[in-house]
Amino acid sequence: MLNTNDDSFERSLIIIKPDGVKKKIVGEIISRFEKKDLTIEKLKMIKIDRKLACKNYQEHKNKSFFNMLIEYITSGPVVVMVISGKGAIARARELMGATDSKKAKGGTIRGDFGADITANVIHGSDSAESAKREIELFFN
Ligand code: RTP
Ligand code: MG
Repeated sequence: MLNTNDDSFERSLIIIKPDGVKKKIVGEIISRFEKKDLTIEKLKMIKIDRKLACKNYQEHKNKSFFNMLIEYITSGPVVVMVISGKGAIARARELMGATDSKKAKGGTIRGDFGADITANVIHGSDSAESAKREIELFFN
């Protein structure tokens, strides 16, 4: 079998955002990852402060939605996890669905539970580099 990127062992940082915790779907989300044979390596519940939020979303600091994003992610407790497995980054993003919950397909986490583009239930690393940076940020 070809050793493509999707087949290599990866880790991804997942955040179940404040709306996901409020909606009591933490167990449901974890279950979706486990059913796809992804491993929960680390897990904790925290409230993200402004400083940590700004660091996590540094690539968006000049975007119009940055303030809304920071306000939202710091608005309540979140569950932060490191998941791992073959092609974990892309597979997690498939399970999550499109950024805008209204455009996300049914059967994806955002499609099934998200409200809009801000309250979209879940964050997942978008590349191996981001994953490394985000995992160090939350589990140093
Ligand atoms: P995330 O980082 O949270 O996993 O989401 P993502 O990769 O699917 O999307 P990204 O482009 O990284 O955007 C980060 C978060 O910013 C909010 N956003 N709002 N109002 C807007 O146009 C807008 N665009 C993005 C979303 O909450 C998104 O999750
Ligand atoms: Mg992103």
